[in-house]
Amino acid sequence: ENVPVTLEINGVRKKLSIDPRTTTLDLLREQLGLTGTKKGCDYGQCGACTVLMDGERINSCLTFAVMLNGKKITTIEGLATGGELHPMQAAFVKHDGFQCGYCTPGQIMSAVACIREGHANTDDEIREYMSGNICRCGAYPNIVNAIKDVKN
Ligand code: FES
Repeated sequence: ENVPVTLEINGVRKKLSIDPRTTTLDLLREQLGLTGTKKGCDYGQCGACTVLMDGERINSCLTFAVMLNGKKITTIEGLATGGELHPMQAAFVKHDGFQCGYCTPGQIMSAVACIREGHANTDDEIREYMSGNICRCGAYPNIVNAIKDVKN
């Protein structure tokens, strides 16, 4: 039986009726058409599905959508404002923080949380915080540089 859920996604308030088995990742991608958030492993191991819930990062594949009631969700689609890239998006472009790009939305959402939570003080701290976001292309050094650039 579906459950009513009211939430805000990228600044837009929504009232939804949700199957309790639906993950936030599937809600975003399949029901709301927000396909910027990627499905890598679907079991909490890769970070491709990272979004922000009330400003804190979550793995959307591990979070049931019914848990979003009253929450504010930000996805990669919600970062840019006024036709301008978010500073972290611009820094990833500037520093080549990606190759194939599949992990990039999750990397950027984690990177935003990294700075907001005060974990971007040293390279080691950044690497530790970002360790849940896997990049098969190995763009890690450039990602660290992008985060440092935004921090400073
Ligand atoms: Fe969620 Fe991999 S898809 S952590």
